Amino acid sequence: MEAIVYEEFGGPEVLRHAAGVAVPEPGPGEVRVKVAAVGVNPVDWKRRHGWVEEFYSTTFPAVPGLEFAGTVDELGEGVTGLAVGDEVLGWTKTGAYAEYAIAGIVAPKPAGLSWAAAASLPVAGETAQRVLDLLGVRAGETLFLHGAAGVVGSVGVQLAVAAGVTVVGSASESNHAYLRELGAIPVAYGEGLAERVRAAAPDGVDAVFDAAGHGVLPVAIELLGGGGSGGEEAAKERIVTIADVDAEKYGIVFSGVLGDPDVVRAGLTAHARGAAAGTLAVRLADTLPLKEAARAQELSESGHVRGKLILTP
Ligand SMILES: NC(=O)c1ccc[n+]([C@@H]2O[C@H](COP(=O)([O-])OP(=O)(O)OC[C@H]3O[C@@H](n4cnc5c(N)ncnc54)[C@H](OP(=O)(O)O)[C@@H]3O)[C@@H](O)[C@H]2O)c1
Repeated sequence: MEAIVYEEFGGPEVLRHAAGVAVPEPGPGEVRVKVAAVGVNPVDWKRRHGWVEEFYSTTFPAVPGLEFAGTVDELGEGVTGLAVGDEVLGWTKTGAYAEYAIAGIVAPKPAGLSWAAAASLPVAGETAQRVLDLLGVRAGETLFLHGAAGVVGSVGVQLAVAAGVTVVGSASESNHAYLRELGAIPVAYGEGLAERVRAAAPDGVDAVFDAAGHGVLPVAIELLGGGGSGGEEAAKERIVTIADVDAEKYGIVFSGVLGDPDVVRAGLTAHARGAAAGTLAVRLADTLPLKEAARAQELSESGHVRGKLILTP
């Protein structure tokens, strides 16, 4: 089968488009899918660089890619609840940048949802929901979301706004109209961020979701530190980052591990239904053929892609 393979850590040049890769065989309880669309994530190039081995250890030769949408193609022994031909979206165990992959957690793809829209949901939906749950943000509270126009951030904005939370979101100026459409109050990131957030939320913020990194944690602590009766330590419990590896240094939670599989599956199913019903949307940046995976990862690494990049085998 066709797949993208790499056998050492490095830049985009280590990605090789291979035609004769063995089709993976589903073991007992496993399902193989024919991949229709793959979502490109920043973690794909972070793994390729060898930067996230403590979370995702790599065995070479490696096939990148966590999320996909596709069709169930073969069932391993003892699989129930899925049939060959079912259209699904979800996570893969063997790498999604390929024609075929062994599925991890999957949910049914609603008929009205495009392959690309479906493939853009698993990582962003799970991550955004996991962080909002960790933060425990409730209706009536105010959340500052750093990197709000990114794929994860934008899903976080939509889920939080739908739950009755006021969201102040940071983004480049060119994304402010988009954030307003999603129901957030946009602010520019960079020098003076804390003042701009205070001006946008004069009664203060209750929690911070860092979906971009770039050294925002001191600002997050400053925004929350003085407010609560529990002082700075209690305030830090209401800050979660998914992108800043210095989190521990600041005593802040870095969330990087997939949650309970049943919760993840339920969330994925709900997000797919929401996307089909038009209540949850991920911006699609571009769709590229699988053989252009290196270019897709370079674009993602540039840090300002407007939406999800999709690869199609
Ligand atoms: N730990 C986990 O479980 C987990 C899961 C998924 C993703 N992540 C991480 O979360 C981050 C976002 O992922 P994504 O898929 O949403 O990526 P994305 O769609 O590429 O979004 C990246 C965001 O970063 C913002 N940004 C770029 N430079 C910035 C700067 N100097 N200061 C502040 N913001 C800046 C961009 O804002 P503008 O375009 O508006 O400039 C954009 O919104 C990545 O680091 C990814 O690895 C972690």
